[in-house]
Amino acid sequence: MSDPLRLGIAGLGTVGAGVVKIVRQKAALLEARSGRPIAVSAVSARNRDKDRGVPLGSYAWEDDPVSLAARDDVDVFVELVGGSDGPAKASVEAALKAGKDVVTANKALLAHHGQALAELAEANDCVLRFEAAVAGGIPVIKALTEGLAANEITRVMGVMNGTCNYILTRMENGGLTYAEAFAEADALGYLEADPELDVGGIDAGHKLALLSSIAYGTQVDFDNVELEGIGRIRIEDIRQACDMGYKIKLLGVCRLSGRGLEQSMSPCLVPATSPLGQLDGGTNMVVIEGDQVGQIVMRGAGAGEGPTASAVMGDVMDIARGTRVTTFGAPASKLVKAQHSRAATPAPYYLRMALADKPGALAKVASALGEAGVSIHRMRQYDHVNEAAPVLIVTHKTTRAALDVALAAFPATGVVVGEPVALRIEAV
Ligand code: HSE
Repeated sequence: MSDPLRLGIAGLGTVGAGVVKIVRQKAALLEARSGRPIAVSAVSARNRDKDRGVPLGSYAWEDDPVSLAARDDVDVFVELVGGSDGPAKASVEAALKAGKDVVTANKALLAHHGQALAELAEANDCVLRFEAAVAGGIPVIKALTEGLAANEITRVMGVMNGTCNYILTRMENGGLTYAEAFAEADALGYLEADPELDVGGIDAGHKLALLSSIAYGTQVDFDNVELEGIGRIRIEDIRQACDMGYKIKLLGVCRLSGRGLEQSMSPCLVPATSPLGQLDGGTNMVVIEGDQVGQIVMRGAGAGEGPTASAVMGDVMDIARGTRVTTFGAPASKLVKAQHSRAATPAPYYLRMALADKPGALAKVASALGEAGVSIHRMRQYDHVNEAAPVLIVTHKTTRAALDVALAAFPATGVVVGEPVALRIEAV
């Protein structure tokens, strides 16, 4: 019989407990598929006494994940601690230095330190895998790194934060305000400890940065992801977008243009009838476009015990089978520094504003747009709210830079009340 592959699991929250359950309950299946038994040697967490719904007594216990990472009876260190620095980073580094393969679900760690950790893994002849870090149970890292390895990737798009998608969906189908939908998500336990990670687009931005590295052979460049959260979306935006045949999604888009690598995570309009437009609730979707394969759409649970543990175990199974893939789909030393470009691919834009209802107001706004070279495609004016008239404009394709010139000219018109909202309409 082959030697077992021995896991050391750091972090016994929902996902860690889910991994232990799979190892215990699916032992025969895992062995049949990988050709060797998979076992847990040791575990580590902050609180030893907590009941996690799974027996842990047969595993060695370490209070410190760094000690766990270097144990002789651990072949694969599974990092489920979380956080971009601190014990997660220290223990992953310790594991790689000790020659252990590493599987992690930690998007923040890799978004900030992915290049250095990939180099460390390769220098120590180890693999560092992170399927569970992006879009939970959807095997998107494997798809991009392996199945689509022969494609030039033309664009990757993703709705990769289930909490934001839940909030936007509840605003749309429940008629809730942003604050009400946020409170509902909170009551359901969907929000991260720091909710800004979700609604500020940071969690989804981490995931996008990891996908773009694989797609374009570039070093992870989270600092240059253009981030905008969903906090400014109002129920009016949801309704008016719907009225024009669109849905609003917190959408990640990365593409490599002649100007450089464009990465944005921001609220966008997508056609209501498209797969992205029909994605409701806490589900994730990743759309990958390759020059040979065309468009691939992957949809599934982006969080939760079973889906995330499934992704962790997919990486463990690869290691058990002897499949050794580079962290970002190319040797770490060959990944180039991304030449960053602000998202500049022309697109139509949705503009919502309130106008003082007096003669010539619309003409002033139209001429500010015209002078910036922005052409109006469609326009609607709605019933008054107080003295101001809600106006909705959909532009023809334009650059964000030209639109910003127009927006900067709005205050001088003296007719735009409050801050306009501008959202890109992504062709999907
Ligand atoms: N908070 C994330 C989400 C899951 O709502 O999708 C972890 O990345």
